[in-house]
Amino acid sequence: MAEGLDVASADRTVLAAEHDREARFDAALLQVRAVVAGETDAVALQATLACVLWDVLAQASWCGFYRRVGEAELAVGPYQGTLGCLRIPFARGVCGAAARTGATQRVPDVHAFPGHIACDARSRSEVVVPVRDAAGVVRAVLDVDSAFADAFSEGEARRLESLVAEVFARDGVVW
Ligand code: SME
Repeated sequence: MAEGLDVASADRTVLAAEHDREARFDAALLQVRAVVAGETDAVALQATLACVLWDVLAQASWCGFYRRVGEAELAVGPYQGTLGCLRIPFARGVCGAAARTGATQRVPDVHAFPGHIACDARSRSEVVVPVRDAAGVVRAVLDVDSAFADAFSEGEARRLESLVAEVFARDGVVW
């Protein structure tokens, strides 16, 4: 495990087919579960998921977490990729929409999303999944961005939702 996940190396310069991307995710899932098993610290879990999902989601240009701080603001958490915005108000961007509504935002074309925040001008599509604690409170969002248009399938979004629920919506996670 010292060298990370045992997944086939992927070409990050092309967008793989939807079916192949979903198969790659499924093939890595047992390893991802094993890596986080037994850990209860939310930041350790976020840092580890950011790292392993960066490996799995080869189409990503940014992959990580924004944490809820205060009533209606997000602050950046552990991530991989290019420099991210440090703060995002709930009122703004795809991340803000996910935190505000509690619903996953799958955005095939960020230029068509009102209020999209371009931390990286190359970003073309993204998926943002709310991260809830065991009580159902939105504590963070998982944000994955891509320089490819329409880079995240419905199937990938559902897989990310399941993984995030499995890892964070558990009793014992320390936020
Ligand atoms: N695109 C996001 C902002 C976060 S970053 O790009 C890392 C948004 O509109 O919420």
